[in-house]
Formats: sequence, structure tokens, C-alpha cells
Amino acid sequence: MAGGPEHVAIIMDGNGRWATAKGWPRLVGHRKGAERVKEIVRCAPDLGIRWLTVYAFSTENWKRSTREVLGLMGLFARYIQREAEEMSAEGVRMRFIGERRRLDPKLQDLMAWIEERTRNNTRLNLTVAINYGGRDEITRAVQAIAAQVQAGQLDPAAVDHACLSAALDTRDLPDPDLVIRTSGETRVSNFLLWQSAYSEYEFSPVLWPDFTPEVLAEIVTRYGHRERRFGAVLS
Ligand code: IPE
Ligand code: IPE
Ligand code: MG
Repeated sequence: MAGGPEHVAIIMDGNGRWATAKGWPRLVGHRKGAERVKEIVRCAPDLGIRWLTVYAFSTENWKRSTREVLGLMGLFARYIQREAEEMSAEGVRMRFIGERRRLDPKLQDLMAWIEERTRNNTRLNLTVAINYGGRDEITRAVQAIAAQVQAGQLDPAAVDHACLSAALDTRDLPDPDLVIRTSGETRVSNFLLWQSAYSEYEFSPVLWPDFTPEVLAEIVTRYGHRERRFGAVLS
């Protein structure tokens, strides 16, 4: 038996479809989705989750309309500002993964501010992936390693799994035990490609704005019945 997952990563999908089905603009779905994040952050520690990583904006999501992209960026900024107090009170440490330089400088400042403000919190590690793509992350890590090799600081033969893991945005995070994708899509869409090598996957038909702590609790219980083998034969 696997026990409970310590690190749960979520591909929060289905906001647009949720809103469209109700005849509302897609951004209404994103707003409702942000409310769900708050609830899940609140309930996660009670389910034994110590690390929660959520996919908020991919490196491919820039292909969407300017209105949707700007709306999402505004939501991220407001989330940080409005939740700072509660996250501090509830012991949530907030971090971000993804390539930041393409983001609005004001948003980048807010991200750095909340990371600093919550850095001593230990009850829950919340990581938000913004302008994140697994391929982009691995490419940047390889560039950093190549630069060290070129500078004569690193022997190519010393480049191993640990070295690459340490060059990724997730260097301070354990690998996810469980990756959940909502909305019924069964693909990874460039999320935590390296880190999820041995993660368990759960695909839920529920659209993210309908995803409740109860749904998460059921998934966590199911995870407890799984057998993780990591390639070995268990007796
Ligand atoms: C997930 O919901 C949130 C983001 C990708 C930003 P979507 O916006 O992808 O919703 P659907 O998949 O179109 O329903
Ligand atoms: C993945 O969802 C990205 C996020 C949830 C942030 P998408 O909706 O962008 O993925 P595809 O396009 O359906 O693969
Ligand atoms: Mg989607």
C-alpha cells in the first residue's frame, strides 16, 4: 500500500468549458477556478498533503486571446495580494516554477514578495506553475549545466540525475507522488515531465471549477490502495 501522497500535483483543467457550458465568458471559469485553489489549499494538510503543486499557465497558453491571457495574469496578481494574509496565518509557503522573465515586472515583484514573506512557513508547500513547460524547464537546466561545463567548473562525466534535478525550477521540491488532471483530458500537456517519471496518475472527469475537497479526498483514498513498484518486483 502506498500510504497517503505527500506531494500532489494538479493540472487544473476545464475552466473554459465550465464557463462556456453556462453561457459565460471563459474568464468567469478562471475566477471560479481560483476560488477552488483556495479551498484545496485549505483542506490539503488535513489530507496529509505537505506539497501541493498546481499548473496555472503553461508556456503554450500564450497562444490564447490577449483578453484571456491578461485576465489570467490579473487573477494571479490578485490571488497573491488577497491570499497573502491567510497563507501566512495558515503556514503556507508559496513558491513559483516556470520562466518568469516573460511575465509583467509587477507580477514578478509580487511573486518574489510572497515567496519571501512566506518562506518560513512549513505546514503546506504550495507551488504555482506560471509560464511553466517541462521542456522549457529542462532546456534551461541543460543550458545552465552546459555553461558550467564550458567555464571548467563541471566535468561532463559528473552530470547525473541529481545534477539535472538540481538545475530544474523544482530543485527544492520532492518528486510528485500523485499527478491529478481534471476535466477528462488524458494527457500531460508539458507538466513536470522529468519529475513525474514514477508518479501515479489520476484523471478525473470533474471540471476544475467543480473540483471540491471531497473529490480530492476520494482520489487520495484511492491512491492509498495503489502499489508503487518503481521497477522492482515486490514480494
Ligand atoms: C485550465 O482551464 C486553465 C488554464 C489552462 C489556464 P482551460 O482554460 O484550459 O479550460 P478548458 O480546457 O478550455 O475547458
Ligand atoms: C494545461 O491545460 C495547462 C494548464 C492547466 C495550466 P491546457 O488546457 O492548456 O492543455 P491542452 O491544450 O488541452 O493540452
Ligand atoms: Mg484546457
